[in-house]
Amino acid sequence: MKIGIETISMYVPGYGLDLRELAKARNVDYAKYHQGIGQEFMSVPSPDEDVITMGANAALQALEGVEREAIQTVIFATESGIDQSKAGAIYIHHLLDLPSNCRTVEMKQACCSSTSALHFALATVALKPEQKVLIVASDEARYGLGTAGEPTQGAGAVAMVISAHPKVMEVDVDVGYFTEDVMDFWRPNYLDEALVDGKYSIKVYLNALEQCWNHYQQATGAIFEDFDHFCYHLPFSRMGLKAHLHLARQEKSSLSARELQQQVEPSLHYNRINGNAYTASLYIGLLSLLDQPQLNLEGARVGFFSYGSGCMGAFFGGTVMAGYREGLNSEARIALLRDRRRLSYEEYEEFYTHALPENGHAYRTRRHRTGAFRLAGVENHQRIYERVPVQMAAHSDASTRAYAAAPA
Ligand code: HMG
Repeated sequence: MKIGIETISMYVPGYGLDLRELAKARNVDYAKYHQGIGQEFMSVPSPDEDVITMGANAALQALEGVEREAIQTVIFATESGIDQSKAGAIYIHHLLDLPSNCRTVEMKQACCSSTSALHFALATVALKPEQKVLIVASDEARYGLGTAGEPTQGAGAVAMVISAHPKVMEVDVDVGYFTEDVMDFWRPNYLDEALVDGKYSIKVYLNALEQCWNHYQQATGAIFEDFDHFCYHLPFSRMGLKAHLHLARQEKSSLSARELQQQVEPSLHYNRINGNAYTASLYIGLLSLLDQPQLNLEGARVGFFSYGSGCMGAFFGGTVMAGYREGLNSEARIALLRDRRRLSYEEYEEFYTHALPENGHAYRTRRHRTGAFRLAGVENHQRIYERVPVQMAAHSDASTRAYAAAPA
């Protein structure tokens, strides 16, 4: 039985900041962002977007053509959770009107929980092949204004339906794991922004990659050449290149510039123009690879390295299915990325510093460009979500129909 990704989709906010603007505001040479870390643009959520609206918007697309009754598990992976108790999966389950006989759960381990969600989903489907699992990975990467991490910020969500009818990718069951208690990146409950030891985090990431690969090799006997393409967790696009060169060195493979370009470059493009989206980042890299019009990936073997600070890593493989393009929605994704409105630096700061009131008093958010769902405000300490009529989605200054995802 083949198990894997039946559909996969992505959502990003309707706004972004050109890193040329950020470089000017920070008095930094733009080449440091563009060449040094490999970033050009970052998505910025408006005040009426959060991880729930981004996740629900991604999931809406992933569920197109999928029979909803088969979805009996929804796993929400995030490190930007909106509640310490209630799973974000429940809000998404409600917004998407999924069957009530369903298990809903939220998972956390930095950027890596989406990958654990994937492997839990594979196990669920192996036990119950008639069931499908919806995974939603959604995050907003925040480091703080003026910090070294700022140019790597970004936001977005990926949704995947995992089933015994994989149209996009069959995912292997073998995984090489590594866990080590380190403080490279973390966010205490009382902070909105991550704390990070940037240079140390890169070292820890590379060590985790090496350890995961060794474990994977012990389990499978795989060699580097077994894979046609590689997708790495991408906190910024140059990290993917650093990681690939590091792995090649372990394997004593001397990579030509052409091989480096072919094996990793196609997976980097979306990250370069979106920024880090934590749990969604690795899978945005996969979509970047799959959406390349010049590549026929049918039957291609893809190696994945998922990394979550703190830290845990996982290395695994997958095979692209024949006819995979039918399970994608590439044109819509390309349009979504293309049509983001460019913010001025001042608008970026205004979006960035916007915060919902913490006193629980009623508050309405101003309407911005969003997808089919938006965060309308807060009442009695509860977030209120709205469904945006189709003809108004992605346009500003339109009114919305109330859609109470949280009990009033
Ligand atoms: P920094 O210290 O400002 O930058 O922050 P730098 O001085 O290290 O420069 C970066 C690169 O730009 C260097 O190249 C410079 O030489 C080059 P490298 O040495 O790497 O080859 N450079 C230039 N190039 C061209 N023209 C110039 C120029 N100036 C410098 N004028 C850092 C960089 C990545 C540390 C920072 O952005 C940061 O702290 N980011 C956040 C942490 C991060 O992304 N860590 C990655 C690994 S951990 C991870 O992936 C997990 C994570 O996603 C979280 C999770 O799991 O939840 C973050």
